[in-house]
Amino acid sequence: MSWLVKSLVLPLVLLCFWGLREGAQACKCGVLHPQQAFCLADVVIKATVIGLPAAAQCEDCSELLKVDINQTQMFKGPNKEFNAFYTAPSSAACGVNLTSDVEYVITGGLDSNGSLHVSLCNYFKWWDDLSATEKEGLVLTYQLGCDCAITRCNSVPCSSSPAECLWPDFLMEKVFRHFTCIKRSDGSCAWYRGRRQPQNGVSDIGDASL
Ligand SMILES: *[C@@H]1O[C@H](CO)[C@@H](O)[C@H](O)[C@H]1NC(C)=O
Ligand SMILES: *[C@@H]1O[C@H](CO)[C@@H](O)[C@H](O)[C@H]1NC(C)=O
Repeated sequence: MSWLVKSLVLPLVLLCFWGLREGAQACKCGVLHPQQAFCLADVVIKATVIGLPAAAQCEDCSELLKVDINQTQMFKGPNKEFNAFYTAPSSAACGVNLTSDVEYVITGGLDSNGSLHVSLCNYFKWWDDLSATEKEGLVLTYQLGCDCAITRCNSVPCSSSPAECLWPDFLMEKVFRHFTCIKRSDGSCAWYRGRRQPQNGVSDIGDASL
């Protein structure tokens, strides 16, 4: 091995190990449809973070950080107003860093003390970036499909059972994010495109066309 190769190989190997370590430490979350996030969450609220966003970032801390919030609406959760949530101190540990004074929809879980916990794997988004159907979902329609499964589908044709909606992410991920999977009166599930109530439980879009 020439000195040049040696001098390149060792740093590369070290870099790989370092890269793996960094990778192992990174926060990894599965991709969820917003409706799945809603159905899985204990709490779904609209809220603003009060105070410094920097408070949510502290690479050397080991304690959970308490982030003060002003809850302005509740879509799902116990009958109480949350004035804070807890999150991990770094993004590597799945801690969230939300911008202050901006309205968000925030989903999270409750611990045994009834405190709200939010991680990068929970769904949260600027309120103003939500589509009309997403807002309608939070207020009304998401709950109607929590018995339905939303199944990611990677190749055509996608087979499905009546109790699920297929999410063809490779095709139209961005579009389907704005749909809601709703249970119809016959017990089957289908995508609903939104902005008006499903009539007689019949959606305005079926997944039969896939
Ligand atoms: C919380 O939000 C409401 C509505 O925007 C506002 O009237 C109230 O002053 C806020 N409270 C705090 C503590 O920021
Ligand atoms: C946290 O968010 C703020 C503003 O949203 C940003 O300025 C800051 O760089 C973020 N910190 C980290 C460590 O990502």
